[in-house]
Amino acid sequence: FPSSALRELDPNLYMFDPAYLSTAATKSEITYLDGANGILRYRGYPIEQLAEKSTYLEVAYLLIFGELPTTEQLANWRHDVTNHTFIHENMRKRFVDGFHYDAHPMGMFTSALAALGTFYDDAKLIEDPEARNHQILRLIAKSPTIAAMCYRFSVGLPFNVPENELSYPANFLNMMWKVGDYEVDPKLERAMDILFILHADHEQNCGTTAMRVIGSSHADPYSSAAGAAAALYGPRHGGANEAVIHMLNDIGSIDNVPAFVESVKRGEGRLMGFGHRVYKNYDPRAKIIKEAAYDVFETTGKSPLLDIALKLEEVALEDPYFVDRKLYPNVDFYSGLIYQALNFPVEMFTVLFAIPRMSGWLAHWQELLEQDQKISRPRQWYAGADTRDYVDIESRG
Ligand code: ACO
Repeated sequence: FPSSALRELDPNLYMFDPAYLSTAATKSEITYLDGANGILRYRGYPIEQLAEKSTYLEVAYLLIFGELPTTEQLANWRHDVTNHTFIHENMRKRFVDGFHYDAHPMGMFTSALAALGTFYDDAKLIEDPEARNHQILRLIAKSPTIAAMCYRFSVGLPFNVPENELSYPANFLNMMWKVGDYEVDPKLERAMDILFILHADHEQNCGTTAMRVIGSSHADPYSSAAGAAAALYGPRHGGANEAVIHMLNDIGSIDNVPAFVESVKRGEGRLMGFGHRVYKNYDPRAKIIKEAAYDVFETTGKSPLLDIALKLEEVALEDPYFVDRKLYPNVDFYSGLIYQALNFPVEMFTVLFAIPRMSGWLAHWQELLEQDQKISRPRQWYAGADTRDYVDIESRG
């Protein structure tokens, strides 16, 4: 039901829908999400097939251009992306080096995205398709470089430059961990790629909505992406995977799980990694991640927190509190355990989410511009004071 129909009836008639619980903010051809049945498809392709058969760069192409690439298109896309992986030296020397030594990597990453736009004359040329294409390539290519640079800065290690003969996930892992004769383990490279695929898009989530709202003002995409990343930083959104690990650490042992679940039911906190605004069923990404976790643990050894997570899931899925509210594990419940097994500190978890989500943000940004969408400008239900006369400060008591 288009809200414009309401406006035709009466220009002062608005839907009151805080947090957009019942509002479709746009028409989109990118991602299909059926929360009741736990279905997720990018451009019509089931997430399970993409996770099994595709690569992140191919999925990024699919999200942005709408179709799977031919062999030649994929080779060109890979070439173009890898040609943009380097960042201006001043970004590191003057910008990133200016942060406090213990700055949170996601805070650095978010600000670096906005700063990146200041390096390009064409950043504001969003109506020019060629310039737009450049922005897309730059943001997808440079996100892993910025992420690794922020991490290396936060632990006082020298920056590793991109190695463009490596795949997208291998290049990222290499920039993160390369010391001496480090080589990326192919199993871990594949796990990283799967995680990137699963996080690439998720229709109108909080971060993507931020991207679209800011993009609708025709701000440059670096600023819009910084806004989207800021939204993702929140513990109710992308920050939840970090919160899951803290929660599992606090629980400490499987014996403490029942008491913890009871405290959640008393409203003393949330079961992080559980529940979703749209999924009222098992998040399909959580299923794939849970399987991928076992593959990673074969190489890295099992996380001591896995047993606590499994027990928590078992207890919650049998408890009427969670069953009645349709609270199931979401993508964040197991992703943190894999990230931890891959050696990432918890502070990097949201950054690991933001790197692949960049392609989804950009696909939505491009769609919005192609739709020539008006500037986002919701109204409100004013509930404040009625008109009253100004009172001089001396007379206010
Ligand atoms: N633990 C315990 N109770 C919960 C949880 C949870 N994780 N999630 C929701 N509930 C309860 C609420 O207390 C509320 O109960 P009530 O009806 O008795 O008041 C009911 O379920 C509905 O919750 P809402 O907050 O209204 O649901 P909403 O759709 O607004 O929230 C959200 C969705 C933010 C994801 C929520 O489930 C949550 O906070 N989960 C934990 C954080 C998390 O894992 N976030 C990651 C989401 S996935 C992503 O962003 C990539």
